Amino acid sequence: MVNLDMSKYSIITLEEVPSTNGYAIENVSFFDDGTIIYAPHQTAGRGRYKRKWIFDETENLYMSIVLKPDKNSFPYANLTQYLSVVLCKFLEKNFDLTPEIKWPNDILVNGAKISGILAESCMQNNQIKAVILGLGLNVNLQRHTIEKIDQRATSLSVLKGQNFDCEKILRGICDIFFESYDEFAGKGFAFIKEDYIERCGFLGKNITIREDEIKKNYFAKAIDDEGLLIVNDEFNNECKIITGDVLC
Ligand code: BTN
Repeated sequence: MVNLDMSKYSIITLEEVPSTNGYAIENVSFFDDGTIIYAPHQTAGRGRYKRKWIFDETENLYMSIVLKPDKNSFPYANLTQYLSVVLCKFLEKNFDLTPEIKWPNDILVNGAKISGILAESCMQNNQIKAVILGLGLNVNLQRHTIEKIDQRATSLSVLKGQNFDCEKILRGICDIFFESYDEFAGKGFAFIKEDYIERCGFLGKNITIREDEIKKNYFAKAIDDEGLLIVNDEFNNECKIITGDVLC
């Protein structure tokens, strides 16, 4: 039995908000490290590359973790990957699912996206003052809403045929996140590398990567010690991918 120090995080619940990330950024100076902004309804959720995060009238999990690390060597670049591993472990244990990670941090079930992660930094005097780590999980999103999304997507209710309590899910994810957070902060990507790679179903396959609407084809070879994606391009030259989306 793990003895959790519950003081590691605190939750602020809002019934509805345009964006939990936006709310966290606007009020960041009032929040301590480890504050979670949670809303079951979010009307203007933002995604990576200025995309929108879809919603309907159902309750879903929209959360933003406010982090204020106090050391320069903190592994900022791997935070979203850490959260993606946390979410996979939560879904495996509690929902008997086999989620996969699509580099760098989308979570898919049976090839359909169920969750996305967006980290945004708050800067002061050229230094990172806080990181807002946002996660959207399609919990009760309905099939007809999902069909409007421009990529294959799913929700827990579509997969399992019943609705779920978002607040219970939130607490389950936060418990796993904060249970190992200090160790991740100390060891960085090395701490999650094995767990991350074993969930990367696209490795060893031909993939398409999109960055700024430009699409290129590669062969996905490996994930390096920094969490970057190593690929071969169409001329068989090895290169490292730093940003972009794997489309598969
Ligand atoms: C993506 O896949 O592009 C990332 C989506 C991140 C969406 C979440 S929902 C909660 C938090 N608040 C936001 O406005 N965005 C993130």
